[in-house]
Amino acid sequence: MAFAAKRCFPALFFLFRATSPGFCTAALAGAPGGSFWENLALRANSHHCELCRTSPQSAEKGAPHYHQGPSWRLKLRSVIAAMQESGNFAELLGQGHVYQFGVFSGWTMGLLRRVFGRTCLVGFDSFEGLPEEADGTAGWTPGLFNSGDIRDMLADQLDSVGRCKTRFVKGFFNTSLTIGLKDEMKLQPALYIDIDVDLYISSIQALDFMFASGLVQVGTLISYDDWWVIPCWHNSTNVFDDGETQAHVEIARKYGVRFNCVSGPCKYISEAPGGFFGRCTIHNGWGPIFQVVEIGTDHFDTGFTMSPADISRWEARNYECIEMEQASKNKS
Ligand SMILES: C[S@@+](CC[C@H](N)C(=O)[O-])C[C@H]1O[C@@H](n2cnc3c(N)ncnc32)[C@H](O)[C@@H]1O
Repeated sequence: MAFAAKRCFPALFFLFRATSPGFCTAALAGAPGGSFWENLALRANSHHCELCRTSPQSAEKGAPHYHQGPSWRLKLRSVIAAMQESGNFAELLGQGHVYQFGVFSGWTMGLLRRVFGRTCLVGFDSFEGLPEEADGTAGWTPGLFNSGDIRDMLADQLDSVGRCKTRFVKGFFNTSLTIGLKDEMKLQPALYIDIDVDLYISSIQALDFMFASGLVQVGTLISYDDWWVIPCWHNSTNVFDDGETQAHVEIARKYGVRFNCVSGPCKYISEAPGGFFGRCTIHNGWGPIFQVVEIGTDHFDTGFTMSPADISRWEARNYECIEMEQASKNKS
């Protein structure tokens, strides 16, 4: 196995050997040594592990919840680094856009600006809060997250370093995500799509727009901020029952998509040193990040590989999940 790790990641292997014997290299120990996609994910994991181990912000080095709350998106830095090192995504990395569905305060867009530097950002939101379909699950009601129209203020804040002006599409998705939007706005293929719209209906509208418009390519990254909210709210292991997760599986089926889990809790790394919660694995944290491996296959794959037992273990130990379950109990 050590040989496989050395063969796949020679530079990283020697760096890690020199600085952290047995720590980040051990994260590679589970390497199947197999496909390009598996190796890319392993490379991202090693990169994250090294950042986690050496970062001064990581006072609790290797702590269970490095990158807390919505900061889980900072793990994108390691995924992007792995994509760059692979040498296979020049066009996406150079020209691709970053799309955020669910802007609200713009906090996430600010973080994405930090992660993606000069990459063009496009944000989609009603700026009037959740649509009327919100039925109160997880406390989500119509009009919640009404930020008002803050587009100009956000554009000023976000544009200072951007390669192109940050743009927003205002409106509820059922009317704003039109067929002509791609050409009107000269939208480029997605390097990254951030889904943070809480509801199933909003997520499926967003994803369907992106796939139907041909803006998703092999290599595109898609993440979900609310993947775990409903399973945690109901203390359930039925991950694909509702919300953003239901939209993910439906879109995989509809467009014949094969996804690979590259970050976050969509894969359970029991073989990581110290176990899943013990160390700096990229699969720790809150939001899962998937990468599109194939489109148009008869054998779609959600990329989510956690078994019901893995899910139970994760739900019982992730503090955000525990808080959510508690909030649900307090409400009922
Ligand atoms: C949880 S908030 C997003 C938080 C945001 N990422 C941040 O950093 O502050 C969800 C957002 O999704 C938007 N949203 C949800 N469903 C929508 C829909 N169908 N059409 C337009 N906007 C929608 C809401 O208006 C809300 O601003």
